Amino acid sequence: MEKGYALVTGASQGLGRAFAIGLAERGFGIVAVARTTAKLAETVAECGKLNGARATAIEADLVAPDAVEKLVQQIEATDLPITVLVNNAGEAIWGRFADKPLDDHLRMMRLNMSVPIELTHRLLPRLRKAPKAYVLNVGSMAGYNAFATLGTYSGSKSFIVRWSRSLRMELSGTGIQVCCVCPGSVTTGFTERAGMQVMDDLAKRFGHPPKPVAEAALNALFAGKAEVVPGFFNKVTVLVLGLLPEAIVERVASSIYLKKLGG
Ligand SMILES: NC(=O)c1ccc[n+]([C@@H]2O[C@H](COP(=O)([O-])OP(=O)(O)OC[C@H]3O[C@@H](n4cnc5c(N)ncnc54)[C@H](OP(=O)(O)O)[C@@H]3O)[C@@H](O)[C@H]2O)c1
Repeated sequence: MEKGYALVTGASQGLGRAFAIGLAERGFGIVAVARTTAKLAETVAECGKLNGARATAIEADLVAPDAVEKLVQQIEATDLPITVLVNNAGEAIWGRFADKPLDDHLRMMRLNMSVPIELTHRLLPRLRKAPKAYVLNVGSMAGYNAFATLGTYSGSKSFIVRWSRSLRMELSGTGIQVCCVCPGSVTTGFTERAGMQVMDDLAKRFGHPPKPVAEAALNALFAGKAEVVPGFFNKVTVLVLGLLPEAIVERVASSIYLKKLGG
């Protein structure tokens, strides 16, 4: 039987493209959403080779007013059977809170938090039509601790982790599985976009390529897990940090990041 479609936000590159390819390999049709036409076309071409050309792109700047509503209207107009939603599009702002423009904080909060909320809320009726459906939310290890220089970002990812777990409880028994993936460093365009190139030495040493991270997340999603931290070293780090006093973890992590920022 033909599988339904997976809608993946931020599918033009990085983790989002890896999710789209992993889902196409599993036989799902793909709706790839992002802003960059040429890169979306590459994702669609790669996915199409894997799933019998069941891949399409929708260009959208998701932080624009009405963008999510229009996206869902396009899905409804084509009546695509969406059975997987991957809330992946996200960005970070790096620097001291007061030094970054308020508009940047607010835009990031919309992309990282409000867009997943709105998209999930609007697509739930469609997901409920399938006997089995899936929501994968992309959090971050940064969501487990507070630290200086990435406060709004880590706060937005804490929100995603908590909201994802709550939604999972509410949807338990409905046939809709909800999972949150909390990656550590992944070698994508993410640090460059955030202006965090000074962290690239750490990213090169500890970062994972997108493919295995996406695979770990999709395996956890389809196995019915609530949350997954891809990578053995990252799993151990989360475990150990969870055992230490929060204030110490915050102070050590903040001093590393502030030093990198040059403050
Ligand atoms: N990389 C890491 O170290 C890391 C670690 C933990 C968690 N994460 C999370 O993983 C997710 C994916 O990040 P990534 O590492 O793959 O970063 P990335 O390479 O920068 O990709 C971000 C994706 O989001 C899309 N996007 C950004 N703004 C958008 C907007 N306004 N409307 C629509 N799409 C938009 C981008 O596409 P366009 O520019 O074409 O629109 C791109 O496809 C994010 O939620 C991030 O927080 C990343």
